[in-house]
Amino acid sequence: MEQMDKNGRLKHLLTLDGLSQSCLNKLLLQADQFIDEHQRLRHTDDLKDKTVVNVFFEASTRTRTTFEIAAKRLSADVISVNVATAATAKGESLRDTILNLQAMQADLFVCRHSDSGAAHFIAQQVKPGVAVINAGDGCHAHPTQALLDLYTIRRIKKEFSNLTIAIVGDILHSRVARSEIMALKTMGVKQIRLIAPKTLLPPYIEQTGVRCYTKMEEGLQNADVIIMLRLQKERMEEGLLPSLREYHRCYGLTLDRLSLAKKDVIVMHPGPMDRGVEIDSVVADGPHSVILQQVHFGIAVRMAVMVELTAGK
Ligand code: NCD
Repeated sequence: MEQMDKNGRLKHLLTLDGLSQSCLNKLLLQADQFIDEHQRLRHTDDLKDKTVVNVFFEASTRTRTTFEIAAKRLSADVISVNVATAATAKGESLRDTILNLQAMQADLFVCRHSDSGAAHFIAQQVKPGVAVINAGDGCHAHPTQALLDLYTIRRIKKEFSNLTIAIVGDILHSRVARSEIMALKTMGVKQIRLIAPKTLLPPYIEQTGVRCYTKMEEGLQNADVIIMLRLQKERMEEGLLPSLREYHRCYGLTLDRLSLAKKDVIVMHPGPMDRGVEIDSVVADGPHSVILQQVHFGIAVRMAVMVELTAGK
C-alpha cells in the first residue's frame, strides 16, 4: 500500500519506512504548534466536521486515549469502537466492519491489530480521501510511538547527530523498536545500540548498521538516551528466557546500571511498564525518567499526524 499520494503528501501513516528526514521534521515541527509556552496543549478547529474512528483490536490505554484526546483537541467528532462487543466478535470480517464504519462517514481510522499488515489491509479497503493511521500492527510497526519518541528526544537533547541511543529489551517482538530504529536512522543518530539476550535480537539486524550487545553493562556505557522495552509475552514462544527473575538480573535497568550512562541521560519507555522486570521503580520514577513527558508529547504528535493526513480534504 503506497502511503504517499502523487504529490508526495502522506495519505496514510502505516509505517515510517521510506519517509524522509524532511517529512519527519515537518511532523515534529507541526507538533510544536500544538503545545503552548506553558507546555499546555492547544485547542484548534483543524478537524472540525471530521469524524475520527478508533478501532483497537488489541489492548491499549495510552495510545487509544491519546489519539482520542488529540482528535478532541482538534475539534473532531471521535468515537472508539468497543471491539469486544463489536460485530467482528460475531464473525463479521474486518473488511465489512471497516466498510460499515466508513458508511457512517468516518474520515480517519486509527487502527490497532495483532496481525502485522492489518493497517495496510484496512488502507486498501477505504475509499480515496479516507485516511488510516497505524496504531500498532503485530510485531511490525508503531509509527506514532516512534514519532513521539523522536519528538521527546528532540525537545530535550535538541539534535540527533551526536547521540548514542540504547534500546533495551525484547527487540525481536517489538513494533516500537522496529519503527524506532528506522526513525532514528533517518534522523542521523550517531550510534544506535540494541541490548538484549541473543534470543530476543532479530537475526541479521546488525546489517542495518546498529550495534548489538548482550551485556547491559557494555551497551549502556556513555549512552545519552536509554529506551526500555517490555517483554512482549503475548507474542513470545516459550523457552526464549529462563525466567523473569533471571531477565531482571541481566537486563533490568537498576540505578547502578543507569550510572554507566552519561550524567544527563534520559530514560524512556513506551509503556506499559513491568516494574521490577525491565525497569526498577527508582529509575522509572527518578529524575532521569521522561516517561510521562512522552505520554504528554504523544498527544501533540498525534494531533500533527491527524492534521497532515486530513489537510485539504
Ligand atoms: C507499545 C505497543 O503497544 O506496542 N505500547 C504503546 O503503544 N504505548 C509497547 C508495548 O505494548 O509493550
